[in-house]
Amino acid sequence: MPGSNPAEGGKKRVAVLISGRGSNMAALMRAAAAPDYPAEIVLVLSNKAGAPGLKIAADAGIPTHVIAHRAFIDRESFDLAMTVKLEQAGAEIVCLAGFMRLLSAAFCRQWQGRLINVHPALLPAFKGLDTHARALAEGVKLHGASVHFVVPEVDDGPIIAQAAVPVLDTDTEASLAARVLAQEHLIYPLALKLVATGAVRIDNGRTWTEGEATDAAGALAAPTVI
Ligand code: GAR
Repeated sequence: MPGSNPAEGGKKRVAVLISGRGSNMAALMRAAAAPDYPAEIVLVLSNKAGAPGLKIAADAGIPTHVIAHRAFIDRESFDLAMTVKLEQAGAEIVCLAGFMRLLSAAFCRQWQGRLINVHPALLPAFKGLDTHARALAEGVKLHGASVHFVVPEVDDGPIIAQAAVPVLDTDTEASLAARVLAQEHLIYPLALKLVATGAVRIDNGRTWTEGEATDAAGALAAPTVI
């Protein structure tokens, strides 16, 4: 099976799982195009044949594959088919990027520490769906995005990176989603880089990041005018 050798400075082989638009996948692709980025995308896998992201990947020459979840009798057999394909591709890290299927505990165990997800909220707040509408309804003044290691519990698992954005009084669900998505596109490539280089370590249910800046002057608070 193909695989990188980090000792020789090889790039980690990454598979991206999508169900739709694929803008986070595209952000990972852009980052991975840099010669010094420590990961390469070797497969884009979707549970939906019509996922627009598949064309973006194919146009860039990245191998794509569809495994329709509806063709499987249960979640475990669908997940097993994905693992077979991921292993065939020699994937070492799996990135969920708008992959809208719950994963079995067996799949999470198989890829433990090598499976990451981007979620459109500041976890552990607003797990699940409709995060922007719920943030607006709750009246939070800060919202954002998280990248985390995946565990069997939905939208749980050690957090690798987060970005916060202000929630404005004039925001609609769409305007807030767009502000958060722009941050997702920044922190996902950063988080993948940290995982691919081994700079992030899981201990005691959280992550610790080697070489992390300790200056917190960049903290963001909203409203910014009091
Ligand atoms: C992103 O906002 C991502 O955080 C979210 O779906 C969107 C996919 O957009 N994921 C989840 O809600 C997973 N729980 P994209 O296909 O353009 O990357």
